[in-house]
Amino acid sequence: MHVTIFGSGYVGLVTGACFADVGNDVACIDIDRARIDRLNGGEVPIYEPGLAEMIGRNRRAGRLSFTTDAKTGVDHGEVIFIAVGTPPNEDGSSDLRYVEAVATTVGQLMEAPKVVVNKSTVPVGTADRVHAILDRELRARGLDLTHDVVSNPEFLKEGAAIDDFMKPDRIVVGSDTAHGIEVMRELYAPFNRNHGRMLVMDVRSSEFTKYAANAMLATKISFMNELANIAERVGVDIEHVRIGIGSDPRIGYSFIYPGCGYGGSCFPKDVRSLERTAAEAGYDALLLRAVEAVNDRQKQVLFAKIATHFGEANLAGRTFAVWGLSFKPNTDDMREAPSRALIEALWAAGARVQAYDPEAMGEARRLYPEQIADGRLVLCENEDEALRWAAALVICTEWRAFRAPDYEVIKELLAEPVIFDGRNIHDPERMAREGFTYYGIGLGEASTPPALHTQDGYVRGAVGAVYSDGIAGRAPAS
Ligand SMILES: NC(=O)c1ccc[n+]([C@@H]2O[C@H](COP(=O)([O-])OP(=O)(O)OC[C@H]3O[C@@H](n4cnc5c(N)ncnc54)[C@H](O)[C@@H]3O)[C@@H](O)[C@H]2O)c1
Repeated sequence: MHVTIFGSGYVGLVTGACFADVGNDVACIDIDRARIDRLNGGEVPIYEPGLAEMIGRNRRAGRLSFTTDAKTGVDHGEVIFIAVGTPPNEDGSSDLRYVEAVATTVGQLMEAPKVVVNKSTVPVGTADRVHAILDRELRARGLDLTHDVVSNPEFLKEGAAIDDFMKPDRIVVGSDTAHGIEVMRELYAPFNRNHGRMLVMDVRSSEFTKYAANAMLATKISFMNELANIAERVGVDIEHVRIGIGSDPRIGYSFIYPGCGYGGSCFPKDVRSLERTAAEAGYDALLLRAVEAVNDRQKQVLFAKIATHFGEANLAGRTFAVWGLSFKPNTDDMREAPSRALIEALWAAGARVQAYDPEAMGEARRLYPEQIADGRLVLCENEDEALRWAAALVICTEWRAFRAPDYEVIKELLAEPVIFDGRNIHDPERMAREGFTYYGIGLGEASTPPALHTQDGYVRGAVGAVYSDGIAGRAPAS
Protein backbone atom coordinates (compact mmCIF):
# COMPACT_ATOMS: atom_id res chain seq x y z
CA MET A 1 0.00 0.00 0.00
CA HIS A 2 1.02 3.61 -0.47
CA VAL A 3 1.07 5.22 2.96
CA THR A 4 1.84 8.81 3.95
CA ILE A 5 2.61 9.89 7.48
CA PHE A 6 2.42 13.51 8.57
CA GLY A 7 4.72 14.06 11.56
CA SER A 8 8.14 12.40 11.78
CA GLY A 9 8.53 12.30 15.57
CA TYR A 10 8.52 9.28 17.85
CA VAL A 11 5.20 7.94 16.63
CA GLY A 12 5.47 8.96 12.97
CA LEU A 13 8.95 7.52 12.46
CA VAL A 14 8.19 4.23 14.18
CA THR A 15 4.90 3.87 12.31
CA GLY A 16 6.54 4.74 9.00
CA ALA A 17 9.50 2.42 9.48
CA CYS A 18 7.32 -0.51 10.59
CA PHE A 19 4.82 -0.14 7.73
CA ALA A 20 7.73 0.04 5.28
CA ASP A 21 9.39 -2.98 6.86
CA VAL A 22 6.42 -5.20 5.98
CA GLY A 23 6.53 -4.05 2.35
CA ASN A 24 4.48 -0.86 2.10
CA ASP A 25 5.71 2.21 0.26
CA VAL A 26 5.86 4.96 2.88
CA ALA A 27 6.41 8.71 2.62
CA CYS A 28 7.10 10.58 5.88
CA ILE A 29 6.36 14.29 5.93
CA ASP A 30 7.42 16.90 8.46
CA ILE A 31 7.39 20.70 8.52
CA ASP A 32 10.72 20.70 10.36
CA ARG A 33 13.24 21.00 7.54
CA ALA A 34 16.27 20.35 9.72
CA ARG A 35 14.69 17.08 10.89
CA ILE A 36 13.95 15.94 7.33
CA ASP A 37 17.48 16.93 6.18
CA ARG A 38 18.96 14.82 8.97
CA LEU A 39 16.75 11.87 8.06
CA ASN A 40 17.73 12.18 4.41
CA GLY A 41 21.36 12.36 5.51
CA GLY A 42 20.98 8.98 7.20
CA GLU A 43 20.67 10.34 10.75
CA VAL A 44 17.79 9.50 13.06
CA PRO A 45 16.88 12.51 15.23
CA ILE A 46 15.50 10.50 18.16
CA TYR A 47 16.86 7.57 20.11
CA GLU A 48 14.72 4.46 19.93
CA PRO A 49 16.34 1.00 20.03
CA GLY A 50 16.40 -0.65 16.58
CA LEU A 51 14.85 2.33 14.78
CA ALA A 52 17.98 3.60 12.99
CA GLU A 53 18.67 0.15 11.51
CA MET A 54 15.07 -0.27 10.39
CA ILE A 55 14.96 3.17 8.77
CA GLY A 56 18.30 2.58 7.02
CA ARG A 57 17.22 -0.82 5.68
CA ASN A 58 13.94 0.48 4.28
CA ARG A 59 15.43 3.64 2.78
CA ARG A 60 17.98 1.50 0.95
CA ALA A 61 15.15 -0.74 -0.28
CA GLY A 62 13.38 2.36 -1.64
CA ARG A 63 10.30 1.83 0.53
CA LEU A 64 10.75 4.78 2.89
CA SER A 65 11.29 8.44 2.00
CA PHE A 66 11.31 11.75 3.86
CA THR A 67 10.20 15.13 2.60
CA THR A 68 8.83 18.48 3.69
CA ASP A 69 6.75 18.66 0.51
CA ALA A 70 3.14 18.17 1.58
CA LYS A 71 1.88 17.91 -2.02
CA THR A 72 4.17 14.94 -2.69
CA GLY A 73 2.90 13.37 0.53
CA VAL A 74 -0.79 13.88 -0.17
CA ASP A 75 -0.46 12.56 -3.73
CA HIS A 76 1.54 9.55 -2.55
CA GLY A 77 -0.72 8.00 0.10
CA GLU A 78 -4.02 6.28 -0.37
CA VAL A 79 -3.92 6.18 3.43
CA ILE A 80 -2.74 9.34 5.20
CA PHE A 81 -1.76 9.17 8.86
CA ILE A 82 -1.77 12.19 11.14
CA ALA A 83 0.98 11.62 13.74
CA VAL A 84 1.75 15.17 14.81
CA GLY A 85 2.04 16.46 18.37
CA THR A 86 -1.00 17.32 20.49
CA PRO A 87 0.61 19.34 23.30
CA PRO A 88 -1.41 20.72 26.20
CA ASN A 89 -2.94 24.18 26.22
CA GLU A 90 -2.65 26.32 29.37
CA ASP A 91 -5.92 24.89 30.69
CA GLY A 92 -4.84 21.28 30.09
CA SER A 93 -6.96 20.71 27.00
CA SER A 94 -5.24 19.36 23.87
CA ASP A 95 -3.84 21.87 21.41
CA LEU A 96 -5.17 20.55 18.12
CA ARG A 97 -3.64 23.17 15.86
CA TYR A 98 -1.12 20.75 14.30
CA VAL A 99 -3.77 18.11 13.65
CA GLU A 100 -6.04 20.73 12.13
CA ALA A 101 -3.19 22.11 10.01
CA VAL A 102 -2.58 18.67 8.51
CA ALA A 103 -6.30 18.18 7.84
CA THR A 104 -6.41 21.58 6.13
CA THR A 105 -3.35 20.75 4.00
CA VAL A 106 -4.81 17.40 2.96
CA GLY A 107 -8.16 19.02 2.09
CA GLN A 108 -6.39 21.68 0.05
CA LEU A 109 -4.20 19.27 -1.88
CA MET A 110 -6.05 15.97 -2.33
CA GLU A 111 -6.99 15.04 -5.89
CA ALA A 112 -8.32 11.55 -5.20
CA PRO A 113 -10.26 9.75 -2.43
CA LYS A 114 -8.26 9.27 0.79
CA VAL A 115 -8.50 7.48 4.08
CA VAL A 116 -7.26 9.89 6.74
CA VAL A 117 -6.18 8.23 10.00
CA ASN A 118 -5.73 10.02 13.33
CA LYS A 119 -2.84 8.34 15.11
CA SER A 120 -2.11 11.32 17.33
CA THR A 121 -3.73 11.12 20.75
CA VAL A 122 -6.77 13.34 20.32
CA PRO A 123 -9.86 14.10 22.40
CA VAL A 124 -13.25 12.67 21.63
CA GLY A 125 -14.78 14.48 18.69
CA THR A 126 -11.53 15.21 16.83
CA ALA A 127 -12.29 12.83 13.96
CA ASP A 128 -15.50 14.79 13.41
CA ARG A 129 -13.48 18.01 13.33
CA VAL A 130 -11.01 16.57 10.82
CA HIS A 131 -13.95 15.44 8.71
CA ALA A 132 -15.47 18.92 8.83
CA ILE A 133 -12.16 20.54 7.82
CA LEU A 134 -11.76 18.19 4.86
CA ASP A 135 -15.36 18.95 3.79
CA ARG A 136 -14.75 22.68 4.10
CA GLU A 137 -11.56 22.65 2.03
CA LEU A 138 -12.98 20.37 -0.65
CA ARG A 139 -16.10 22.51 -0.89
CA ALA A 140 -13.93 25.61 -1.31
CA ARG A 141 -12.25 23.88 -4.25
CA GLY A 142 -15.57 22.74 -5.69
CA LEU A 143 -14.55 19.09 -5.34
CA ASP A 144 -16.52 16.12 -4.10
CA LEU A 145 -14.00 13.42 -3.13
CA THR A 146 -14.64 10.57 -0.70
CA HIS A 147 -12.69 10.79 2.52
CA ASP A 148 -12.98 8.41 5.43
CA VAL A 149 -11.67 9.60 8.77
CA VAL A 150 -10.46 6.77 10.99
CA SER A 151 -9.22 6.80 14.58
CA ASN A 152 -6.26 4.52 15.23
CA PRO A 153 -4.62 5.52 18.52
CA GLU A 154 -1.07 4.40 19.14
CA PHE A 155 -0.10 2.39 22.21
CA LEU A 156 3.65 2.03 21.66
CA LYS A 157 6.02 2.62 24.55
CA GLU A 158 9.10 4.72 23.93
CA GLY A 159 12.11 2.49 24.46
CA ALA A 160 10.27 -0.61 23.18
CA ALA A 161 8.39 1.07 20.36
CA ILE A 162 9.40 -1.19 17.47
CA ASP A 163 8.49 -4.34 19.34
CA ASP A 164 5.21 -2.83 20.46
CA PHE A 165 4.34 -1.84 16.93
CA MET A 166 5.38 -5.13 15.32
CA LYS A 167 3.72 -7.29 18.01
CA PRO A 168 0.90 -5.15 19.37
CA ASP A 169 -1.33 -6.25 22.25
CA ARG A 170 -4.19 -4.69 20.35
CA ILE A 171 -4.83 -2.54 17.31
CA VAL A 172 -7.70 -0.20 18.04
CA VAL A 173 -9.56 1.06 15.00
CA GLY A 174 -12.49 3.42 15.20
CA SER A 175 -14.40 3.99 12.03
CA ASP A 176 -17.94 4.77 11.12
CA THR A 177 -17.51 3.50 7.55
CA ALA A 178 -17.04 -0.05 6.23
CA HIS A 179 -14.42 1.19 3.77
CA GLY A 180 -12.29 2.73 6.53
CA ILE A 181 -12.33 -0.56 8.45
CA GLU A 182 -11.54 -2.62 5.36
CA VAL A 183 -8.49 -0.48 4.47
CA MET A 184 -7.17 -0.67 8.04
CA ARG A 185 -7.64 -4.45 8.11
CA GLU A 186 -5.57 -4.78 4.95
CA LEU A 187 -2.84 -2.44 6.17
CA TYR A 188 -2.54 -4.12 9.57
CA ALA A 189 -2.87 -7.72 8.30
CA PRO A 190 0.90 -8.41 8.63
CA PHE A 191 0.77 -7.45 12.32
CA ASN A 192 -2.32 -9.48 12.94
CA ARG A 193 -1.31 -12.92 11.61
CA ASN A 194 -0.81 -14.80 14.86
CA HIS A 195 -4.27 -14.03 16.21
CA GLY A 196 -6.82 -11.31 15.68
CA ARG A 197 -5.66 -8.24 17.54
CA MET A 198 -7.78 -5.69 15.80
CA LEU A 199 -10.52 -4.19 17.91
CA VAL A 200 -13.01 -2.32 15.78
CA MET A 201 -15.33 0.21 17.37
CA ASP A 202 -16.98 3.53 16.72
CA VAL A 203 -14.71 6.55 16.29
CA ARG A 204 -15.45 8.28 19.60
CA SER A 205 -14.95 5.15 21.69
CA SER A 206 -11.64 4.57 19.93
CA GLU A 207 -10.47 8.10 20.68
CA PHE A 208 -11.49 7.66 24.31
CA THR A 209 -9.79 4.25 24.66
CA LYS A 210 -6.34 5.81 24.36
CA TYR A 211 -7.03 8.25 27.21
CA ALA A 212 -8.58 5.50 29.30
CA ALA A 213 -5.44 3.36 28.93
CA ASN A 214 -3.04 6.15 29.86
CA ALA A 215 -5.21 7.38 32.72
CA MET A 216 -5.36 3.84 34.14
CA LEU A 217 -1.58 3.44 34.01
CA ALA A 218 -0.99 6.88 35.53
CA THR A 219 -3.49 6.03 38.25
CA LYS A 220 -1.59 2.85 39.14
CA ILE A 221 1.62 4.83 39.47
CA SER A 222 0.13 7.62 41.56
CA PHE A 223 -1.70 5.10 43.74
CA MET A 224 1.56 3.34 44.50
CA ASN A 225 3.38 6.59 45.16
CA GLU A 226 0.65 7.63 47.55
CA LEU A 227 1.06 4.33 49.42
CA ALA A 228 4.85 4.77 49.42
CA ASN A 229 4.49 8.14 51.10
CA ILE A 230 2.24 6.67 53.77
CA ALA A 231 4.54 3.64 54.17
CA GLU A 232 7.51 5.89 54.77
CA ARG A 233 5.73 7.58 57.66
CA VAL A 234 4.67 4.42 59.42
CA GLY A 235 7.84 2.36 59.11
CA VAL A 236 6.67 0.12 56.29
CA ASP A 237 8.80 -1.10 53.39
CA ILE A 238 6.77 -0.41 50.26
CA GLU A 239 8.87 -2.89 48.26
CA HIS A 240 7.47 -5.74 50.36
CA VAL A 241 4.00 -4.32 49.90
CA ARG A 242 4.54 -4.08 46.13
CA ILE A 243 5.28 -7.77 45.90
CA GLY A 244 2.53 -8.54 48.38
CA ILE A 245 -0.14 -6.93 46.25
CA GLY A 246 1.37 -7.60 42.81
CA SER A 247 1.10 -11.34 43.39
CA ASP A 248 -2.68 -10.95 43.21
CA PRO A 249 -3.43 -11.52 39.51
CA ARG A 250 -6.26 -8.99 39.72
CA ILE A 251 -3.63 -6.35 40.55
CA GLY A 252 -0.50 -7.61 38.77
CA TYR A 253 3.11 -6.48 39.08
CA SER A 254 3.32 -3.94 36.31
CA PHE A 255 3.09 -0.20 36.86
CA ILE A 256 3.12 -0.45 40.63
CA TYR A 257 6.73 0.60 41.14
CA PRO A 258 7.02 3.45 43.59
CA GLY A 259 9.29 6.22 42.35
CA CYS A 260 9.85 9.92 41.82
CA GLY A 261 6.82 10.36 39.59
CA TYR A 262 5.75 9.75 36.01
CA GLY A 263 6.72 12.03 33.16
CA GLY A 264 7.05 11.88 29.41
CA SER A 265 5.03 13.29 26.58
CA CYS A 266 1.91 11.24 27.24
CA PHE A 267 0.73 10.51 30.79
CA PRO A 268 0.82 14.06 32.17
CA LYS A 269 -0.85 15.68 29.18
CA ASP A 270 -3.32 12.87 28.56
CA VAL A 271 -4.55 12.79 32.16
CA ARG A 272 -5.02 16.57 32.03
CA SER A 273 -6.74 16.45 28.66
CA LEU A 274 -9.18 13.79 29.89
CA GLU A 275 -9.92 15.95 32.94
CA ARG A 276 -10.72 18.82 30.57
CA THR A 277 -12.93 16.63 28.39
CA ALA A 278 -14.82 15.68 31.55
CA ALA A 279 -15.04 19.31 32.72
CA GLU A 280 -16.35 20.46 29.35
CA ALA A 281 -19.01 17.78 29.64
CA GLY A 282 -19.94 19.19 33.07
CA TYR A 283 -18.31 16.43 35.12
CA ASP A 284 -15.70 16.93 37.80
CA ALA A 285 -13.20 14.06 37.36
CA LEU A 286 -12.08 13.90 41.00
CA LEU A 287 -9.92 10.83 40.66
CA LEU A 288 -8.05 12.15 37.63
CA ARG A 289 -7.35 15.42 39.40
CA ALA A 290 -5.94 13.50 42.35
CA VAL A 291 -3.76 11.33 40.07
CA GLU A 292 -2.22 14.48 38.64
CA ALA A 293 -1.83 16.23 42.01
CA VAL A 294 -0.17 13.18 43.58
CA ASN A 295 2.25 13.05 40.67
CA ASP A 296 3.11 16.74 40.85
CA ARG A 297 3.90 16.33 44.52
CA GLN A 298 5.86 13.13 43.91
CA LYS A 299 8.21 14.94 41.58
CA GLN A 300 9.29 17.04 44.58
CA VAL A 301 9.95 14.07 46.87
CA LEU A 302 13.62 13.64 45.98
CA PHE A 303 14.33 17.30 46.56
CA ALA A 304 12.47 17.21 49.89
CA LYS A 305 14.61 14.28 51.03
CA ILE A 306 17.78 16.08 49.97
CA ALA A 307 16.69 19.28 51.71
CA THR A 308 15.92 17.36 54.90
CA HIS A 309 19.22 15.50 54.86
CA PHE A 310 21.47 18.51 54.25
CA GLY A 311 19.22 21.29 55.55
CA GLU A 312 17.66 23.43 52.82
CA ALA A 313 19.77 26.44 53.77
CA ASN A 314 22.93 24.40 53.23
CA LEU A 315 22.25 23.44 49.62
CA ALA A 316 23.60 26.66 48.10
CA GLY A 317 27.03 26.13 46.64
CA ARG A 318 26.84 22.32 46.86
CA THR A 319 27.09 20.11 43.81
CA PHE A 320 24.86 17.09 43.25
CA ALA A 321 25.47 14.18 40.92
CA VAL A 322 22.37 13.20 38.92
CA TRP A 323 22.20 9.89 37.09
CA GLY A 324 19.42 9.71 34.54
CA LEU A 325 17.73 12.63 32.79
CA SER A 326 15.26 10.93 30.44
CA PHE A 327 11.78 10.34 31.86
CA LYS A 328 12.37 6.58 31.62
CA PRO A 329 15.14 4.28 30.37
CA ASN A 330 15.84 3.57 26.69
CA THR A 331 14.72 6.93 25.42
CA ASP A 332 16.25 10.39 25.13
CA ASP A 333 12.87 12.02 25.82
CA MET A 334 12.98 14.51 28.71
CA ARG A 335 9.47 15.91 28.33
CA GLU A 336 8.06 16.41 31.87
CA ALA A 337 10.82 14.17 33.25
CA PRO A 338 11.06 14.02 37.07
CA SER A 339 14.78 14.76 36.67
CA ARG A 340 13.83 18.25 35.49
CA ALA A 341 11.73 19.01 38.56
CA LEU A 342 14.62 17.88 40.76
CA ILE A 343 17.34 19.75 38.90
CA GLU A 344 15.31 22.93 38.76
CA ALA A 345 14.56 22.73 42.51
CA LEU A 346 18.28 22.24 43.22
CA TRP A 347 19.12 25.29 41.13
CA ALA A 348 16.45 27.33 42.92
CA ALA A 349 18.16 26.40 46.20
CA GLY A 350 21.51 27.57 44.83
CA ALA A 351 23.03 24.14 44.15
CA ARG A 352 24.89 22.94 41.05
CA VAL A 353 24.28 19.73 39.14
CA GLN A 354 26.66 17.32 37.43
CA ALA A 355 24.57 14.99 35.29
CA TYR A 356 24.98 11.92 33.15
CA ASP A 357 22.44 10.07 30.99
CA PRO A 358 23.27 7.37 28.43
CA GLU A 359 21.08 8.95 25.71
CA ALA A 360 19.54 12.26 26.80
CA MET A 361 22.64 14.48 26.92
CA GLY A 362 21.82 16.12 23.57
CA GLU A 363 18.31 16.86 24.77
CA ALA A 364 19.64 18.33 28.04
CA ARG A 365 22.00 20.53 26.04
CA ARG A 366 19.06 21.75 23.97
CA LEU A 367 16.86 22.44 27.03
CA TYR A 368 19.37 24.11 29.36
CA PRO A 369 21.92 26.11 27.33
CA GLU A 370 21.92 29.00 29.83
CA GLN A 371 22.50 26.82 32.87
CA ILE A 372 25.30 25.02 31.06
CA ALA A 373 26.89 28.33 30.10
CA ASP A 374 26.83 29.69 33.66
CA GLY A 375 28.05 26.43 35.19
CA ARG A 376 24.90 25.42 37.08
CA LEU A 377 24.70 22.31 34.92
CA VAL A 378 27.70 20.24 33.90
CA LEU A 379 26.99 17.41 31.50
CA CYS A 380 29.50 14.65 32.13
CA GLU A 381 31.09 12.06 29.85
CA ASN A 382 30.13 9.15 32.07
CA GLU A 383 28.65 8.13 35.43
CA ASP A 384 31.92 8.42 37.31
CA GLU A 385 32.70 11.92 36.19
CA ALA A 386 29.31 13.11 37.44
CA LEU A 387 30.19 11.86 40.93
CA ARG A 388 33.44 13.70 41.42
CA TRP A 389 33.28 15.83 44.59
CA ALA A 390 29.49 15.81 44.57
CA ALA A 391 27.69 15.99 47.92
CA ALA A 392 25.45 13.07 47.01
CA LEU A 393 24.27 10.90 44.12
CA VAL A 394 20.65 11.22 42.99
CA ILE A 395 19.20 8.57 40.67
CA CYS A 396 16.26 9.76 38.58
CA THR A 397 16.03 7.13 35.83
CA GLU A 398 16.41 3.37 36.14
CA TRP A 399 18.82 2.84 33.23
CA ARG A 400 20.28 -0.67 33.32
CA ALA A 401 23.82 0.69 33.58
CA PHE A 402 22.97 2.27 36.95
CA ARG A 403 21.79 -0.96 38.55
CA ALA A 404 25.07 -2.60 39.43
CA PRO A 405 27.68 0.14 39.74
CA ASP A 406 31.05 -0.18 41.43
CA TYR A 407 30.17 1.00 44.91
CA GLU A 408 33.82 1.51 45.85
CA VAL A 409 34.23 3.96 43.00
CA ILE A 410 31.09 5.84 44.04
CA LYS A 411 32.38 6.14 47.59
CA GLU A 412 35.77 7.26 46.44
CA LEU A 413 34.43 9.97 44.13
CA LEU A 414 31.57 11.41 46.18
CA ALA A 415 32.38 13.93 48.88
CA GLU A 416 29.99 12.03 51.18
CA PRO A 417 28.59 8.53 50.67
CA VAL A 418 24.93 9.53 50.30
CA ILE A 419 22.54 8.17 47.67
CA PHE A 420 18.99 9.29 46.90
CA ASP A 421 17.44 6.60 44.74
CA GLY A 422 14.30 7.83 42.99
CA ARG A 423 13.64 4.42 41.46
CA ASN A 424 14.45 1.99 44.29
CA ILE A 425 16.94 0.15 42.10
CA HIS A 426 19.38 -0.55 44.90
CA ASP A 427 19.03 -2.83 47.86
CA PRO A 428 18.93 -0.82 51.09
CA GLU A 429 20.64 -3.61 53.06
CA ARG A 430 23.47 -3.80 50.59
CA MET A 431 23.76 -0.01 50.58
CA ALA A 432 24.09 0.08 54.35
CA ARG A 433 26.71 -2.70 54.23
CA GLU A 434 28.65 -0.75 51.62
CA GLY A 435 28.67 2.23 53.96
CA PHE A 436 26.14 4.48 52.24
CA THR A 437 23.41 6.56 53.72
CA TYR A 438 20.68 5.52 51.34
CA TYR A 439 17.26 7.03 50.71
CA GLY A 440 14.74 5.24 48.54
CA ILE A 441 11.05 5.92 47.97
CA GLY A 442 8.71 4.50 50.59
CA LEU A 443 11.36 2.52 52.43
CA GLY A 444 11.01 4.06 55.85
CA GLU A 445 13.87 6.28 56.99
CA ALA A 446 17.25 6.26 55.28
CA SER A 447 19.27 3.14 55.77
CA THR A 448 22.54 4.17 57.25
CA PRO A 449 25.93 2.58 57.69
CA PRO A 450 26.90 1.09 61.07
CA ALA A 451 28.81 4.19 62.18
CA LEU A 452 25.57 6.06 62.57
CA HIS A 453 23.83 3.45 64.68
CA THR A 454 21.94 4.39 67.77
CA GLN A 455 23.00 3.08 71.12
CA ASP A 456 20.59 0.22 71.20
CA GLY A 457 22.18 -1.22 68.12
CA TYR A 458 19.90 -0.41 65.26
CA VAL A 459 18.51 2.53 63.43
CA ARG A 460 14.96 3.13 64.41
CA GLY A 461 12.51 2.77 61.59
CA ALA A 462 15.27 2.14 59.09
CA VAL A 463 14.82 -0.52 56.52
CA GLY A 464 17.83 -2.59 55.70
CA ALA A 465 19.93 -1.28 58.52
CA VAL A 466 22.92 -3.26 59.68
CA TYR A 467 22.87 -4.23 63.35
CA SER A 468 25.80 -3.15 65.47
CA ASP A 469 27.18 -6.69 65.44
CA GLY A 470 27.58 -6.25 61.68
CA ILE A 471 24.83 -8.65 60.68
CA ALA A 472 22.56 -7.27 58.07
CA GLY A 473 18.91 -7.35 58.87
CA ARG A 474 15.71 -5.49 58.69
CA ALA A 475 15.43 -3.20 61.66
CA PRO A 476 12.12 -3.14 63.46
CA ALA A 477 10.01 -0.10 62.87
CA SER A 478 9.97 2.43 65.62
N1 LIG B 1 5.69 9.49 22.07
C1 LIG B 1 4.94 8.48 22.47
O1 LIG B 1 5.37 7.60 23.19
C2 LIG B 1 3.50 8.40 22.03
C3 LIG B 1 2.82 7.18 22.18
C4 LIG B 1 1.50 7.10 21.78
C5 LIG B 1 0.87 8.23 21.25
N2 LIG B 1 1.55 9.40 21.14
C6 LIG B 1 0.85 10.54 20.54
O2 LIG B 1 1.26 10.67 19.19
C7 LIG B 1 1.33 12.05 18.79
C8 LIG B 1 2.72 12.39 18.31
O3 LIG B 1 3.63 12.22 19.38
P1 LIG B 1 5.21 12.22 19.16
O4 LIG B 1 5.81 11.88 20.48
O5 LIG B 1 5.55 11.41 17.96
O6 LIG B 1 5.43 13.78 18.83
P2 LIG B 1 6.78 14.51 18.35
O7 LIG B 1 6.73 15.86 18.92
O8 LIG B 1 7.95 13.63 18.59
O9 LIG B 1 6.60 14.60 16.76
C9 LIG B 1 5.64 15.37 16.12
C10 LIG B 1 6.20 15.82 14.78
O10 LIG B 1 5.14 16.39 14.01
C11 LIG B 1 5.70 17.44 13.22
N3 LIG B 1 4.65 18.31 12.70
C12 LIG B 1 3.95 19.28 13.35
N4 LIG B 1 3.07 19.86 12.50
C13 LIG B 1 3.19 19.24 11.31
C14 LIG B 1 2.54 19.38 10.05
N5 LIG B 1 1.59 20.28 9.85
N6 LIG B 1 2.93 18.57 9.04
C15 LIG B 1 3.91 17.66 9.23
N7 LIG B 1 4.55 17.47 10.40
C16 LIG B 1 4.20 18.25 11.44
C17 LIG B 1 6.68 18.11 14.18
O11 LIG B 1 7.63 18.89 13.49
C18 LIG B 1 7.30 16.88 14.87
O12 LIG B 1 8.46 16.42 14.20
C19 LIG B 1 0.87 12.82 20.03
O13 LIG B 1 -0.51 13.06 19.94
C20 LIG B 1 1.16 11.88 21.17
O14 LIG B 1 0.32 12.11 22.27
C21 LIG B 1 2.86 9.49 21.50
